[in-house]
Amino acid sequence: MEETLVLIKPDGVKRQLCGEILSRYERKGLEIKAMKLLQTPQELAEEHYAEHKDKPFFGELVDFITSGPVLAFILGGQNAVASVRAINGATNPLDATPGSIRGDYALTLDSNVVHASDSAESAAREMKLWFPEYK
Ligand code: TYD
Ligand code: MG
Repeated sequence: MEETLVLIKPDGVKRQLCGEILSRYERKGLEIKAMKLLQTPQELAEEHYAEHKDKPFFGELVDFITSGPVLAFILGGQNAVASVRAINGATNPLDATPGSIRGDYALTLDSNVVHASDSAESAAREMKLWFPEYK
């Protein structure tokens, strides 16, 4: 069993897509292990996106993820990291296959509805950041 950290970003929460998105993960067989709706503190946002801190879009990324509540959760299941990335679709919604979350619900790179850990190592780091109380 593998676990991964998922966020429904402020655009997804504002557009009331949480139920629709969660049902996609659940029907795949992934299990919700922890969950919370929160306003992301600035420091958490910067730490979460630390790998991008030297990129030109870092400021906008942090502004966006702190612009409203996010639904943060941990999903568990076999190959959970890769499964969730596949369900989410490509980072740029233009490249995301129809049928994926980003393919179905997003138009632009800066508002792409969901985040998920990109590796088992990232998942461990991000779960500790967002759910220090878990486990
Ligand atoms: P990244 O970690 O590359 O993508 P993913 O979310 O699929 O793991 O990038 C993090 C977020 O940064 C991405 O979801 C959207 C945003 N972003 C931009 O705004 N501009 C860019 O050029 C890139 C690569 C990402
Ligand atoms: Mg990423």
